[in-house]
Amino acid sequence: MQFDTFLMERNQTLFENGVEINLTESGVHPCTIEEIMPADAAQALLQLPLGYGWTDGRPDLRSAIAGWYPGASASNVLVTNGSSEATMIALMAMVDPGDKVLFAVPNFMQVDGLGRALGMDVQRLSLMPDQGWQIDPDALAKAASDMKLIAVTNPGNPTGAVLSPRSREALLEVAGRTGAWLLVDEIYRGGEIDGAETETFYGRYARVIVTSSLSKSFACPGLRLGWIVGPEEVVGEAAKRQDYTTIGSGILSQIVGAAVMEPKNRERILARGRALLRENADIVERWVGKQNRWSWQRPAAGGMAFLRYDFDMPSEALSNELREEESVFVVAGSWFGIENHIRIGIGVKAEHLLEGLARLDRFLVRRGLA
Ligand SMILES: Cc1ncc(COP(=O)(O)O)c(C=O)c1O
Repeated sequence: MQFDTFLMERNQTLFENGVEINLTESGVHPCTIEEIMPADAAQALLQLPLGYGWTDGRPDLRSAIAGWYPGASASNVLVTNGSSEATMIALMAMVDPGDKVLFAVPNFMQVDGLGRALGMDVQRLSLMPDQGWQIDPDALAKAASDMKLIAVTNPGNPTGAVLSPRSREALLEVAGRTGAWLLVDEIYRGGEIDGAETETFYGRYARVIVTSSLSKSFACPGLRLGWIVGPEEVVGEAAKRQDYTTIGSGILSQIVGAAVMEPKNRERILARGRALLRENADIVERWVGKQNRWSWQRPAAGGMAFLRYDFDMPSEALSNELREEESVFVVAGSWFGIENHIRIGIGVKAEHLLEGLARLDRFLVRRGLA
């Protein structure tokens, strides 16, 4: 089994802890346990026996997650180790080697690389940059004739774009007509910067599988806690794969995760993130406004800004040289398959972002690229 390097993840692993300013994250500055639960509940964790617990997810956690998806109940939810595991076992459950998968790009490249490693025929559907990274309904209809599964991320990464009603309808129409499964990664839902919360795809079509986690909008990537929400038979098939891979997620993460997903707490934590994202999106907007050679589309959701530049420098070289010279680490557009772009994190503390942008300015001036 041949695995291509997952370029963004590998580079993050290598460099994210060795730089002064890490702008490669796409989530929100992480919460502490103190910010999530009251002191007595946190204190009670000291007495917790560290058993396996419920390997498919504690009932209170599954119910709390289901509560964020109108029409879902606990039996529609499987708790996983991050949405990475959710995507892996959902793919393994629903797609056989040789089956066709349509994957909307640019995107987090897990489905692309993992799908191919598992022998799936992964084909890419380009989102339209000049239409706010929306689906091209004609291209979708042409590509989708014999797809087993169509995978999209909404809100998107690295674009931060939310699919328009027209894009949503196109996906639902084509999937409904061809019988394809829709695998929708909704990990950035709840991190809307200006508008209302993104509507989930769950419940809009019988063959929708949603994956998500606490890593981004909920600001808890260290819990490594994610989930699948889908039809019971999909949850059952995915759980069979989980039995062979990770068995289940950790009991500590599940208890803290249940506190995060308690409805009032959930809304408080999401609001904390949205306030930070709004402040930082404004900072980037002001920065782009002063530049001659940079442009962007203000993200609708998620802790990231996808910035376009017009000078001649490969984005990977820009990322590497900025890191080596200024200790600022950004994601190269080429790691998403798109040149002349970088992705910077806007979920960091504002002073961190300001310092990163000041150092980027210094780098550009030194290179004669300002
Ligand atoms: C779209 C998307 N899906 C999944 C993941 C993985 O998230 P998790 O930490 O929940 O495994 C990421 C992380 O960057 C992502 O951007």
